[in-house]
This record gives sequence, structure tokens and C-alpha cells, in this order.
Amino acid sequence: MSRYMDRFSIENKVCVVTGGGGLIGMKHTEAIMEGGGIAILLDVVPTGMERVKDEIRKEYGEDKIVESYVVDITDRNALEKIRDELLEKYGHIDVLINNAANNPKVESKSDNLKAMRFHDFPVELWNQDIAVGLTGAMLCAQVFGKVMEDQKSGVILNISSDYGLIAPDQRIYRKEGLPEEQQIIKPVSYSVVKHGIIGLTKYLAVYWADKGIRVNTLCPASLSNGQDEEFVSKISKLIPMGRMSKPDEYVCTVLYMISDATTYMTGSTVILDGGRTSW
Ligand SMILES: NC(=O)c1ccc[n+]([C@@H]2O[C@H](COP(=O)([O-])OP(=O)(O)OC[C@H]3O[C@@H](n4cnc5c(N)ncnc54)[C@H](O)[C@@H]3O)[C@@H](O)[C@H]2O)c1
Repeated sequence: MSRYMDRFSIENKVCVVTGGGGLIGMKHTEAIMEGGGIAILLDVVPTGMERVKDEIRKEYGEDKIVESYVVDITDRNALEKIRDELLEKYGHIDVLINNAANNPKVESKSDNLKAMRFHDFPVELWNQDIAVGLTGAMLCAQVFGKVMEDQKSGVILNISSDYGLIAPDQRIYRKEGLPEEQQIIKPVSYSVVKHGIIGLTKYLAVYWADKGIRVNTLCPASLSNGQDEEFVSKISKLIPMGRMSKPDEYVCTVLYMISDATTYMTGSTVILDGGRTSW
């Protein structure tokens, strides 16, 4: 007999995940499945969401509900259409995970992680990164949060990063022997988006504190995803636990934060970084 474990249940709760087709989107979806919820994935690219749906069917069975919508989260009208469809179908929307962001990755040599010293960083990329990571999150909170306000219940989980708390150590991205102008750096927009999302959390947590909506931030960090040995070795030295994280290590914390296991948590920042921001 357990007095508390059923608080982790999100049975039949409708959970919207932005950037649902990405690396961590898969893990958010697993958290939703573990809790018995319904996952609604939003992503501008369809392929990742199809992969997530296939994996979930294999892992959890055909009867589990994972729906996907191809949408740009900076388009408020498109978000409203999805909200209306979901309300028509399910009658409620309970959880929003604001996860989408342009996340420049060393292993995928993303466009906005090219040789880009701060003074050369193009304003076009800055605008795109802010649009997805901050404006998109704000619009989703407006559109889906309104439903939660009417229901007088809901949970919003904003995904930040250790780079929402500390500056990137650009030395870990450097490649020996490359001339200065070809060295890659983590762009300024990433820091600003990840710090900004913590501000959005605190603002909304207080704004909705008496409306039954909880808003919190999760800071994942240093996900292992096929990076080269040199990078892994450099970043591991910056982490007290001495290693990168595995994507699986986020699943239980996400379920904890979106379920009734955390009914008194709002405005908080939960950091999973192997201790990196502690020294
Ligand atoms: N991977 C890491 O090491 C790491 C570390 C810390 C924090 N994070 C954060 O976790 C979150 C997810 O990261 P990830 O590694 O899964 O990234 P990812 O790039 O794999 O996934 C992001 C997803 O967002 C989607 N997206 C981009 N623009 C969009 C738009 N306008 N509308 C809808 N969807 C859009 C992309 O298509 C992609 O599928 C991000 O907020 C990231 O900053 C990641």
C-alpha cells in the first residue's frame, strides 16, 4: 500500500509538448506515458514526431495516445486552432511543456553554431532564436494557459538549461589548430533565451498563483548525444560528477514536476547538471 505514489499519476491529462520531435521531446513524451497521460506533440518538423510516435508505440503499446501537430509555435493563430481542436476532442488541456528552442549542437554542426564571434552574430539569427525560445513559449503560455485559467488548474513546465544560470565556457567548443575565425562558439542568443525563460516562469508563477496554475523551470544540462571524445573530455572536467547526462535521467523529474507530486512548487527552478553550477 502506498499513500503517495498515486500523486505521480497524470491519468488522462492532456499534455502539450513543444519541440516534441527533438531529443528531449522524446523523453518528455516517455514521462507523460509513464504517468498515464495523453501526449500532444507540436513541432515545426514532422519527422522527429513520427519517430517519437513509433518508439512510444513499440515501448508502451498501440493503445497509448500520442498526437502530433506540425506547427510553428511563433504562429498564434495556428496555436489557437490546435487549442480549439484539443478542447473539442478532450474538453481540457492540463499540462504545457515549453521545450522548443533553437538548440545549437556541437554534434550536428547547427547553422547558428558556426564560426561566429559575438560581434559578427547576425541579428537575423538572434531574432529567430528569440522568436522560438521566448516568443513561442510566451504565445503557448497565453493560448494554452487561458484554458488552464478557465479550468482553474494546470501546470506549465518551461525548459531552460545550465546556460540559463551560467555563461557557456567557450573553451569546450574550441578545436585545436583551427584559426580563430573558424572556432565555434555557443551563441549569445542561447544564453539570453535560457535566462529569459526563467524570468517567464517567475512572472507567470506569481501571475497565476491564485488561479490553480503552477509554473516551474527545469534546467537540463550536458546531454550525451554522440559528441566527439575531445568535447566529452573537456565538458566532463567542468562537471563535479565527472560525466555528461543521459537523456533517460530527465524522465522521472519531468513526471514529478508535471504531476500532483509537486502541488506546492511554483516559480521554482530544478537543476539537473551533475553539480556544474555548484562550483
Ligand atoms: N540537448 C541538450 O544538451 C540540452 C541541454 C540543456 C537544455 N536543453 C534544452 O532542452 C530543450 C530541447 O532540446 P533538444 O536537445 O531536445 O533540442 P532539439 O533541437 O533536439 O529539439 C528542439 C525541437 O524544437 C523544434 N522547433 C524549433 N523551432 C520550432 C518552432 N518554431 N515551432 C515548433 N517547434 C520548433 C525543432 O524542430 C526540434 O525538433 C531546448 O529548450 C534546449 O534548450 C537541451
